[in-house]
Amino acid sequence: MNTPIKFNIANLPTPIQKIEFKGTKFLIKRDDYTGTELTGNKIRKLDYILADVKKKKADYLFTSGGNQSNHARATAIAAKQIGVKTKLFLWGKEAKNPDGNLFLDQLVGTEIVYLSKKEYADVKNIMLKESKRLQKKGHKVYITPSGGSTPLGLWGYINFIKELEEQKYLSKLKGIVSAYGSGGTAAGMLLGSAIVGSNVKIYVVNVLDDPEFVRDIIINLVEDAIVEYKIDVKINYKNLVILDGYSEEGYKNISDNKLKVIKEFYQSSGILLDPTYTGKAFYAYYENFLKGKKSSNVLFVHTGGIYGVFAKRKKYIEA
Ligand SMILES: Cc1ncc(COP(=O)(O)O)c(C=O)c1O
Repeated sequence: MNTPIKFNIANLPTPIQKIEFKGTKFLIKRDDYTGTELTGNKIRKLDYILADVKKKKADYLFTSGGNQSNHARATAIAAKQIGVKTKLFLWGKEAKNPDGNLFLDQLVGTEIVYLSKKEYADVKNIMLKESKRLQKKGHKVYITPSGGSTPLGLWGYINFIKELEEQKYLSKLKGIVSAYGSGGTAAGMLLGSAIVGSNVKIYVVNVLDDPEFVRDIIINLVEDAIVEYKIDVKINYKNLVILDGYSEEGYKNISDNKLKVIKEFYQSSGILLDPTYTGKAFYAYYENFLKGKKSSNVLFVHTGGIYGVFAKRKKYIEA
């Protein structure tokens, strides 16, 4: 197996907390503690991506996402730590008073290209064209896709599983729940658990795509990583379970019934969940694994996203 090198910007290991909510005891892994400005799951992937950026001697890093993308914000900030310029290609409009992640993107001084939803569908080609333009001017551009979900980025969540094993929790768990955005988190966990010989179920809460597409994306990422890094492992794809139907309000929105549960959870535990990913994932987790039970041996992963809350403050207050 060819294990890639990493940069070590993530604050690891992240803690596991024992929580009680509405009479049910469960465990939560705080991957929102990977950093402050760099909070969330993206940092585990960026640890490997940034090491590769340095190895390839790139001076520009491109990535893409929604205008509240946690990955884009984390990439722009993390790149500052290694002295690399960033250009973000964001689906959304420029705002006079940017909030949440977009505020941090602007403040950290990254370059931003705003794209309409239609233009964003072609973002790969748009980034490629711009990289060619910059390359002609003597720059070396590294492009990482939305969410940092590449076979390389997967290593962040292969290591997450090893971390759970070292923390002596993995063998006690029946399943792990996290949100799906671009698939790298779930794919890394699936591959990581097969590597360490665990049969833990990987539940992903779909927040934006068709469930068959989500499954294909995750499986393809796993298979690509197996080939690229010569990993001798057999994957039991029955361990991958997609929890669908928890984002009917759309990727950029959150319904009041979900926000009510999120607020109740915040007010009882002090743990704040974001409107796009962790809030929807927690709602699905509550419905499937907590409601009516005394305890649960399925772990919830808080994958970060706190800055997205500020962009939706009115909804949070009114719910
Ligand atoms: C806070 C948060 N949680 C979960 C996810 C999903 O992770 P992945 O893109 O690896 O599926 C994302 C990004 O997409 C995110 O920003």
